[in-house]
Amino acid sequence: MYIHIHRNTMFARFGILLTIINIALQVESVSIVSVSPSGTHKTIASALATIPNDSSAWEVDIAPGTYVEQISITRAGPITFRGQTNGTPSSYLDNLVTLAWNQTTASGVSDEATSALMVNTAQFKAYNINFKQLWGSKFAGPQAVAVSINADKVGFYQSYFFGYQDTLFAGVHSTIGRQYFKGCYIVGAVDYIFGSASAYFDSCTIASNGPGHLTAQKRTKSNDSSDAIKSGYIFNNCRVVADSNTNGVNLKAKVDLGRPWSPYARVVYMNTYMSDIITPAGWGSWYSVTLGDYSNVQYYEYNNTGPGSWSQNAAARASVNYTRQLTASEASAYSLKTWFGDVSWI
Ligand SMILES: *[C@@H]1O[C@H](CO)[C@@H](O)[C@H](O)[C@H]1NC(C)=O
Ligand SMILES: *[C@@H]1O[C@H](CO)[C@@H](O)[C@H](O)[C@H]1NC(C)=O
Ligand SMILES: *[C@@H]1O[C@H](CO)[C@@H](O)[C@H](O)[C@H]1NC(C)=O
Ligand SMILES: *[C@@H]1O[C@H](CO)[C@@H](O)[C@H](O)[C@H]1NC(C)=O
Ligand SMILES: *[C@@H]1O[C@H](CO)[C@@H](O)[C@H](O)[C@H]1NC(C)=O
Repeated sequence: MYIHIHRNTMFARFGILLTIINIALQVESVSIVSVSPSGTHKTIASALATIPNDSSAWEVDIAPGTYVEQISITRAGPITFRGQTNGTPSSYLDNLVTLAWNQTTASGVSDEATSALMVNTAQFKAYNINFKQLWGSKFAGPQAVAVSINADKVGFYQSYFFGYQDTLFAGVHSTIGRQYFKGCYIVGAVDYIFGSASAYFDSCTIASNGPGHLTAQKRTKSNDSSDAIKSGYIFNNCRVVADSNTNGVNLKAKVDLGRPWSPYARVVYMNTYMSDIITPAGWGSWYSVTLGDYSNVQYYEYNNTGPGSWSQNAAARASVNYTRQLTASEASAYSLKTWFGDVSWI
């Protein structure tokens, strides 16, 4: 069992050695609150309400079930959501916990306020949870988000995201946060991974359920080379495919890898399989927003495979003057460690 050890303010008086010990204790101490449809806490929100708003680390252990709730994370300290699975939770296919919500911007709220989960403070992690924007099953707009993230050091592991337009809002505001997605499955059609974050998609499946655009990245300035955290979306070792349910639509050459939400949009795909849903030109345009100036867009590809990849559509790709292939040494700047620098939070 886990025991929560409260921060002992006495340590502060004994100098640096004891401070280090105290930090070690804090890292190891995680309190757990359990949620179950038949337990004391029947909703995730009621479990969250019992957690102190301080720097202590907490975990919400969630029993199998579908929780139709809208959750906003605003507490100061680290918090982890862990969905129970049967057996070893090695894949999103093992998930038994779903957090769902059904709302669109037509209800008069902002895009992010339609989300099932809104992460507004740092150090949130989720393991083995399905996040569903139920509106997505209508296979139509308007915007309706499953998860929006406006925070640094956020991780999702073996999680599943479902929507149609605007599934995953990675970076709501211009403050750039680091976000890591490992072994996730992300479904949508239009701009379904979008925003300003520094987001790394590692071994994920990106699955379209309608014609549209995988990404709408929103890097807003050119001069970020010295910034500690740089805006951009990196897809490494991923798969870009059609979802198993496309509402009967044949998506062949109906999807692009992204369209720029801002003039400095940065997106990199590397070591990734691209199916034939990707248009030969690969990338889309968003003339109304960028006013046709694509000279600062950074859309890069490296070592991808499959019928939608550069190597199998070279002439069409070369006709797009805001994308190019990276060399091996350029691509090394987008490895996980080089991109984030400090990966201890992952
Ligand atoms: C935690 O405290 C911050 C700062 O006062 C506040 O903005 C936030 O809403 C609080 N969150 C919770 C869950 O109480
Ligand atoms: C979502 O809400 C709409 C009404 O606003 C309804 O028509 C639809 O069936 C709901 N979807 C689900 C999956 O509950
Ligand atoms: C960086 O560029 C933005 C506009 O893109 C500008 O507002 C800002 O002043 C620049 N910062 C520096 C340090 O040059
Ligand atoms: C190219 O990508 C494949 C995966 O599709 C990987 O196995 C291989 O190591 C990559 N090659 C280089 C040079 O990075
Ligand atoms: C890129 O191509 C477009 C037409 O697709 C053209 O209008 C634009 O001037 C070109 N930009 C550069 C920098 O060559």
